[in-house]
Amino acid sequence: MIELGVNIDHVATVRQARRTHEPDPIVAAALAEQGGADGITFHLREDRRHIQDRDVELLMQTVTVKTNLELACADDVLAIALRVKPDWALLVPESREEVTTEGGLNVIADGGRIAAAIDRLKERDILTSLFVDPDVDQVAAAAKLGVDAVELHTGPYALAGHHSVASELDRLRSAGAVAVESGMRLHAGHGLNYINVRPVAKLPGMIELNIGHAIVSRAVMVGMKEAVAEMRRILDLCSP
Ligand code: PXP
Repeated sequence: MIELGVNIDHVATVRQARRTHEPDPIVAAALAEQGGADGITFHLREDRRHIQDRDVELLMQTVTVKTNLELACADDVLAIALRVKPDWALLVPESREEVTTEGGLNVIADGGRIAAAIDRLKERDILTSLFVDPDVDQVAAAAKLGVDAVELHTGPYALAGHHSVASELDRLRSAGAVAVESGMRLHAGHGLNYINVRPVAKLPGMIELNIGHAIVSRAVMVGMKEAVAEMRRILDLCSP
C-alpha cells in the first residue's frame, strides 16, 4: 500500500491570510487522519508564513499517525525539530522569495551542512529524508549521507506538458531506482493531484507520497476527510 502523507500547510496559509484562528491545521490533521492519511506533513518555514510554532507543538501532541516535519538546515528550526522530535525530518532548501519549495537540495554542493543536520537529527532518533530533484547523482549523494529516505521532487513532472511528461517520469524512475538500490525508502511529492498521481504511485519501489495543495484545494469543496479519502482510494488502486 502506498503511504499517503497529507501536507496541511495550506490550511495554515488560509488562516494566516487573516491572522486569525481559523481554519485550524490541527483540526485539519485530525480529519485527514480520519480520511486515511498515513502521515501528517507540515513545514515550519523560517519566515513562518503558514505553520506557526504553536501548530508544531499541538500537532506533536495530537497527531496519532506519523509526523513529518519539513524544515531547512537552519539553526532555529533545527533546534525546534530536535526538541519536539517528529517521527521524520524532511530537509528542504528554502528561499524567502519562493512561492513554494522550488527545487531539491543540492546534496552534492551542500553535503557538509546537510550531513551536520542529519547527524544531529539521528542522535535524537529522528528518521531523515532529503528532498531532491530526480537526478541520479543527487540521489547517490544522499545515499552516501546515510539518510533513511529521499523524497523525489515531482514538481517538474507535474508541470510538464504532453511533450515532456514521459521524459520527466523517466527521470523519476531512474532516480527512484538508485534510491531503492541504495536501500533508502523512496518518497515523492510536490504538485501531485488526483489526475497526475497515478504514474508516480506506480513507479517501482515507491513507498510514500506527500500531497498538500491538491488535497487542501479539494477539501474546500468536499471537506478534508472526504478529500483525503478520495486520494486514498486512488492510491489503493495503484498499489502493487
Ligand atoms: N514535498 C515537499 C518537500 C514540499 O515542500 C511540498 C510543498 O510544501 C510538498 C511535498 C507538497 O506539495 P504540494 O502542496 O504541491 O502537494
